[in-house]
Amino acid sequence: MNHFLDLADLTSEQLHNLLDLAAHLKSERKTQGANTPILANRALAMIFEKPSLRTRVSFEMGMVHLGGHAIFLPPSEIKMGGRETIADVSRVLSGYVDGVMARLFRHDHLLALATHGTIPVINGLTDYNHPAQAVTDLFTIWEHVGRLENVKVVYVGDGNNVARSLLLGAAMTGMHMTVASPEGYTLSPNDYEEAMARRVSASQEIALVTDPVAAMADADIVYTDVWTSMGQEEETAERLRVFPPYQINAQLVAHAKPDCRIMHCLPAHRGEEITDEAADSAQSILFEQAENRLHAQKAILATLLR
Ligand code: CP
Ligand code: NVA
Repeated sequence: MNHFLDLADLTSEQLHNLLDLAAHLKSERKTQGANTPILANRALAMIFEKPSLRTRVSFEMGMVHLGGHAIFLPPSEIKMGGRETIADVSRVLSGYVDGVMARLFRHDHLLALATHGTIPVINGLTDYNHPAQAVTDLFTIWEHVGRLENVKVVYVGDGNNVARSLLLGAAMTGMHMTVASPEGYTLSPNDYEEAMARRVSASQEIALVTDPVAAMADADIVYTDVWTSMGQEEETAERLRVFPPYQINAQLVAHAKPDCRIMHCLPAHRGEEITDEAADSAQSILFEQAENRLHAQKAILATLLR
């Protein structure tokens, strides 16, 4: 692994190795109070074009826990391609730090950052995908259910970055996944084909559908994300009109398995894609999922920066 840009670049074995390492680093910190400082003298630059709570804090604390250092570069600093070319940003950072984590609008800008530098680049979310979130989600499901094979995930809502990475990750780890989205907001046929091609077993069911109620059948995991992602704010009114049937609430969850878990990458727009009742229910694992960003990010950092 030279970069962490897209789960498509990993083998299933590499993905499982990240999950195992996340489990090890989590257990090491919980049982011994600290991690071994395997990234001593290593530095990570963190470029953010969009806001963040989880990604920024989990990567920064991940570096701290592993003995390294992180530098936060907010939207006012770099202006990807605005103040100087992305290639120049990448070459300059390669002389200062040992890795870059970037949250960008354009996925091609992330790829350019990776192409022109000599250090690992980690995807902290683009308009296209969010693979660091997906590693966390797989790790969280594995912790809760005890396995990934044959677990059914039902994602309800916008067919966007988070759903795209989770679908691929589910396919690569033996899960079944159904994505239920309104017409016009589904993942693409390419996403479906990519997931089908990366299944580890021909018996895995992958489906993109529009009926959220039918999708719930046999769901072990019910997952959602915001209806209006960062950068889509001008579409808010139209999305608020289209998405209400896709809200995760007690009535919809009643169609899933009785012991299903509820997940959300967060931030949650409570009252829109998820009700308080669902987000705060006994079935919700939202905050364990959020904590696991820390452990999963450390696994990515330890793999690339050591
Ligand atoms: N889930 C996630 O990436 O959260 P932030 O936008 O707060 O980083
Ligand atoms: N789809 C959301 C995810 C936030 C973590 C967004 O892009 O804003």
